[in-house]
Amino acid sequence: MDLGIRGRKAIVNGGSAGMGKGSAFALAREGVDLVISARGEDRLLKTCDEIQKETNVKVTPIKADHSTDEGRNKILSACPEPDILVGTCTPPPFTYSYEKVTPEEWQETLDVSLLSPVEFMRATIPGMVKRKWGRIVNIGTGAAKTPTEVRILSGPPRAALVNYSVAVSKKVAKHNVVINNVLPGMHHTASIKDRYNKIAEENGTSYEEEIQKFVENWKIPAKKFGSSDDLGAFVAIFCSEQASYVIGQSLVIDGGIGNTTF
Ligand SMILES: NC(=O)c1ccc[n+]([C@@H]2O[C@H](COP(=O)([O-])OP(=O)(O)OC[C@H]3O[C@@H](n4cnc5c(N)ncnc54)[C@H](OP(=O)(O)O)[C@@H]3O)[C@@H](O)[C@H]2O)c1
Repeated sequence: MDLGIRGRKAIVNGGSAGMGKGSAFALAREGVDLVISARGEDRLLKTCDEIQKETNVKVTPIKADHSTDEGRNKILSACPEPDILVGTCTPPPFTYSYEKVTPEEWQETLDVSLLSPVEFMRATIPGMVKRKWGRIVNIGTGAAKTPTEVRILSGPPRAALVNYSVAVSKKVAKHNVVINNVLPGMHHTASIKDRYNKIAEENGTSYEEEIQKFVENWKIPAKKFGSSDDLGAFVAIFCSEQASYVIGQSLVIDGGIGNTTF
């Protein structure tokens, strides 16, 4: 299927690894030119090179922290009129007791996972409205919908982000500016590989064994972790020409772990 977005311009914040990279690849395969931001330069340059070589689109790496004003200005200067905005970050750390979460940890997670996407939407939507075309996808977390103590730094800011983006989506839908969210469960990504390789080393097991343990303990119906490339394909669909009537939705992609009817 042709998603009808060839020649469009996208900012992918947090696109050097994981689901951001999966999304960047999926957009590039549809012929979208990309500005990709990340803090770490080596991985960013490697990813941009990989995408450019495979898809031949224009890919501009921007080394920047999208949770700061300085980083946001740098990213927006490289692409002042994006048609598409995709935002993601590294999963906030697990929390093992609500009592131990400090104000500093709250501020950090709010800056990166709530205020950053909010500021990017505020900066880019007026132009999209003027040009009568825009697509925005925030990659949040399934924990926005299914709270657990271990994800206190991850779920609550994204629940707020979903609330905000749905409210704004209703205001701008008539201008063909479409805002949606993707809420992932467990996926094989760079951060997950780091975390479970470390645990495997401590336990004298393998990455695969640790993932399988998680799958059994948390009773994931699909019996596996998801793929960031597959998730990226859904992000690209939300960015498609065909998505103009999909307004303020939050698609959970979690192998069935969430326990709600809708
Ligand atoms: N992976 C999972 O199983 C899982 C489960 C539930 C929810 N999620 C959610 O899914 C999203 C993506 O997770 P992921 O596992 O794909 O992450 P990941 O593998 O750690 O990739 C995160 C990407 O964002 C970049 N990044 C992080 N902070 C940034 C910042 N402040 N400025 C610019 N770039 C930044 C990272 O590069 P640099 O580090 O170089 O900046 C990297 O490119 C997160 O919102 C996470 O909470 C993930």
